Amino acid sequence: MKKILFILLIAPTIIMAQNGSNDEYRARREKVLSMLDTTSAVVLKSVNENPLGIDYVQEHNFYYLTGINSQGNILLISPKGIKVGNKTKKTIIFYNNINDVKEISLGANDTILKSNEFRPIFSKHIALLAKLYYSAPDLILVNDWLSDKAYFMEREMKSRMKALYPKLKLESAEFFVGRLRAIKSLQEINNIKKASDITSDGLISAMKIAKPGIWEYELQAAVEYQFTSQGAMLRGFPSIVGSGLNNLIVHYFDNNCQTKDGDLVVMDVGAKYHGYSSDITRTIPVSGKFTDAQKEIYNMVLKVQKDAIAMAKPGVSTGELERFAVNAFKKYGYDKFYIHGLSHPVGLDVHDVMTEDILKPGMVITIEPGLYFSTNDKDAPDKYKGFGVRIEDTILITENGCEILSSKTPKEIDDIEKFMKKKR
Ligand code: GLY
Ligand code: MN
Ligand code: MN
Repeated sequence: MKKILFILLIAPTIIMAQNGSNDEYRARREKVLSMLDTTSAVVLKSVNENPLGIDYVQEHNFYYLTGINSQGNILLISPKGIKVGNKTKKTIIFYNNINDVKEISLGANDTILKSNEFRPIFSKHIALLAKLYYSAPDLILVNDWLSDKAYFMEREMKSRMKALYPKLKLESAEFFVGRLRAIKSLQEINNIKKASDITSDGLISAMKIAKPGIWEYELQAAVEYQFTSQGAMLRGFPSIVGSGLNNLIVHYFDNNCQTKDGDLVVMDVGAKYHGYSSDITRTIPVSGKFTDAQKEIYNMVLKVQKDAIAMAKPGVSTGELERFAVNAFKKYGYDKFYIHGLSHPVGLDVHDVMTEDILKPGMVITIEPGLYFSTNDKDAPDKYKGFGVRIEDTILITENGCEILSSKTPKEIDDIEKFMKKKR
């Protein structure tokens, strides 16, 4: 009985610690406060456009500073201070539902108010400001990756604000808060590590069921079964499972083709755990055995990937890593077939905000070289025509180098072939 009581008592603490502790969110708000002067403020709105509640993804800066994962809330941080009753508060969380803020840890500068109090307070306060950092317009990122909707909304919002407050400087909070988000805390790293472990399990499951004739969506289902069954209810991005010629399309999301003997399958997937993404790509032969030509390209990409990972450490820039990869492929004469970037930061957003180029301990990035030989490219050697290879890991920059957070995912040819033999 004592044991059960103990478990009941500590369970909420464990859940909170995985999410990011309340104190950590409060410390982040205080940090933002210290980065502003008394004529500037930050206003962040939670994502409110999700009528069916499908894959609700909170505005990342709002989440980073509050840990609140629901609609209809607003965060206002202003060092000038706002009179609330007989006190002056510098940080106000305007809430929609009291249950979402009940547990929140409030410092001396913080308070909570009902969301309908935002407009009157903010419209008075804004007149005192010279600069306002704002959250990006609502966008359901996962479904809106490639559209320009967000840019139109932002432009419209800016022009309306300009008309109302001609002297006010407006700047997206993305970059401002992003400077903090770039360096991950231990809790954030643990969440990305867990997301990576789950994603690894998903990729291993797909490797085990792969066989010629299997459909791309069956492989996707094997990956995502692991996500959901391990509590990663969302994906960092739509899963990419491209076989045959589909693996030449970098962001291929259809996943609706049947594989054929001899195909390579690029699987680029990432679970999201407590808001944090992983991003891993493996390229596998659906038959369980790479051909000689596939091996040649696979090992080339793998060498560039491993060498780039070996270079990744504090002080090195992502630009240097990029140039390294281009030159490495150039030595083989294949730089033309390397068609995307090598690296991006990972965190709450799978393409997390990039605020600086020089790597520092606590940053999490991907290393993801690839080569893609299309069938109609006259420069492509015949034996490679029609397939692509991408290999991607999520890595943490440490004091002296880096740690591969996705290291549980088989990557060597022998290991992949071994896992693929172990059918369920
Ligand atoms: N999964 C998208 C990317 O690797 O950038
Ligand atoms: Mn990536
Ligand atoms: Mn990826």
